[in-house]
Amino acid sequence: MSTRPPCREVEEAPDSGAPATFGQLLRAHRKQRGLSLAQLATRVHFNRGHVSKIETGKRPPSVSFAEACDRALDVGHTFAPIASALEAAARQQQGWVQPGQLPPTKRHFVGRQDFIERLDRLLQRQEESLAVPVAVINGPPGVGKTALAVQWAHRAVNEGHFPDGQLFVNLEGPEPGAAADPVDVLGDLLRAVGVPADRVPADLDQRAATLRSYLHGREVLLVLDNAADAQQISPLLPGSSGCAVVVTSRSRLPGLLSLVEPVTLPLAELRRPEAAMLIRANIGDVRADADPGAVAVLAERCGRLPLALVLAAEHIVSHQHRSADTLATELGPEQARLNLAEGDVVLRNAFATSYKALDEPSARMFRLLGRLPGHLIDANVTAATAGVTQDEASRLLRGLAGAHLIQRQDERHYFMHDLLRVYAADLARQLDGEAERAKAVRHTVEPVAVAVRPSALESLVA
Ligand SMILES: Nc1ncnc2c1ncn2[C@@H]1O[C@H](COP(=O)(O)OP(=O)(O)O)[C@@H](O)[C@H]1O
Ligand SMILES: [Mg+2]
Repeated sequence: MSTRPPCREVEEAPDSGAPATFGQLLRAHRKQRGLSLAQLATRVHFNRGHVSKIETGKRPPSVSFAEACDRALDVGHTFAPIASALEAAARQQQGWVQPGQLPPTKRHFVGRQDFIERLDRLLQRQEESLAVPVAVINGPPGVGKTALAVQWAHRAVNEGHFPDGQLFVNLEGPEPGAAADPVDVLGDLLRAVGVPADRVPADLDQRAATLRSYLHGREVLLVLDNAADAQQISPLLPGSSGCAVVVTSRSRLPGLLSLVEPVTLPLAELRRPEAAMLIRANIGDVRADADPGAVAVLAERCGRLPLALVLAAEHIVSHQHRSADTLATELGPEQARLNLAEGDVVLRNAFATSYKALDEPSARMFRLLGRLPGHLIDANVTAATAGVTQDEASRLLRGLAGAHLIQRQDERHYFMHDLLRVYAADLARQLDGEAERAKAVRHTVEPVAVAVRPSALESLVA
């Protein structure tokens, strides 16, 4: 058995700047030199039909053909390494070995039905459009982006979608300075689909073209978890609509819009019944039934954030003498909630990776928001409190919303999740001295006295 014949028609090379398949790359180079198919065929000593089939992805390129193209187009070693990798993979595998890289689903996945339905639209797009369908799940740390992507992916696979395999990559986006390099990611992906390590081409474009050629005509799901930015993702995108991509990110990935038309799914905390259900599913009915009211209080104290809920539930399960009630009581003081931990996962650390990625003015603004009372953030009040212009405050708030540390409500107002506000306040206490705090209070009191409740002002000064 050789490589499977493509099962879908080929689309034209994208003009988005995204990398191409071998065939698309060849056509682009040929056109750049003003050569017709027949002229290139003459130069490479293959017939015109053969060149055409390779350009349209209907026939795989041999290494000798690729070498002839390198010479005819005077492009050094552009095509040969790609053909060599493709040929080696096909020979080694005697066909396509399905990669199955999805991590296991969560035992107790709750809610998110509306998002799952929206993700199902990707499958519809797969049928209707030639462009590769992409979904972006974004939201704050611990909100359940990865869990949703993995849950949906397994569901789709169980329903018979993506029969040629599933690739899953952690792009390490949120860790400052740790984001995975697309060259390395492509190397891993190529090895996963069967390219022997010594045949993986060296440079980014060649690796991208090899993967695209390989995925061409196949139905493969690619889950790109924890993406840092659009630049990191674009070389990894397959070219054909038989594939689909689900990206998770703490960022809104603004640059991605110029490459694809993603379905965007902004995730927020769970609804009340779902949050309680998550705790119940993890601690078991007996413990939950002992005090359902305490479970509800605990869910609220965890801000209905899945990560906090899971940590709380695991804590109860691993400590026999703890109940939902005792833990809820312990989490009464807001700051205690940041220390929720199980094993080496600590809630505060999950937030810290997002915070550490901020530049200094944004970080200062984030800390300041922790000192402002209430959930609603008003850009004008914030500007006065921070001692910056309204334009600057709006810019910083937009940036924080882009990193999902706050959520935009309208042009002027934002929300901050309870636990993130507690985290911001905690940082402010640690990092900003008394002088800074006094300055903030001074700026707050006069211009915004009408906008802030007196009790809230008291807590600001306290
Ligand atoms: N809908 C859900 N049902 C059950 N558990 C969930 C759900 N969403 C998230 N979790 C759990 O919460 C924790 C954090 O979720 P995760 O997907 O890692 O968050 P993110 O990727 O947004 O940082 C994980 O343990 C995950 O299994
Ligand atoms: Mg994640």
